[in-house]
Amino acid sequence: MKHSVVALTVNGAERQVLVAPGTTLLDALRESQGLTGTRRGCDQGACGACTVLVDGKTMMSCLLPVETIDGATIDTIEGLTPMEGLHPIQEAFLEGFATQCGFCTSGMIMATAGLLARNPDPSREDAVRAISGNICRCTGYEAIIDAVLDAAARMRAAKRDKAA
Ligand code: FES
Ligand code: FES
Repeated sequence: MKHSVVALTVNGAERQVLVAPGTTLLDALRESQGLTGTRRGCDQGACGACTVLVDGKTMMSCLLPVETIDGATIDTIEGLTPMEGLHPIQEAFLEGFATQCGFCTSGMIMATAGLLARNPDPSREDAVRAISGNICRCTGYEAIIDAVLDAAARMRAAKRDKAA
């Protein structure tokens, strides 16, 4: 089988990734980039645990052959976390008890990041829709939806403070 080299910008860094045919973005992130914050749940596009941003859009990385996204920009949970402290979305999830076992959390947070990048002031319905592809076995979802809205409020406040 012929391998190919795919150019990706991962969390702001340019990478050349050598991949076998059919390698998914999830495999490339976890296995060749060591970015295991992106979870492998079902590996079939059904649980959302593997959610990342591809060119700013929320995608399930387990479904995406990496050869088809040569030149793409990828954002994962590792890139969201600042060097010190937490991102406002992470703070909102933590303080709102929106994580229990944590297996779904990086996917939920990246789905939230995708939503807030396109809609900084989402309604509750928008939040529900944004995480509708993400399964959580633990929380019952209400705390997660509250955290999405809290994260939006925190990010709007941070933007206002910065502009002041
Ligand atoms: S691991 Fe990708 S959707 Fe479940
Ligand atoms: S916190 Fe356990 S699956 Fe969501």
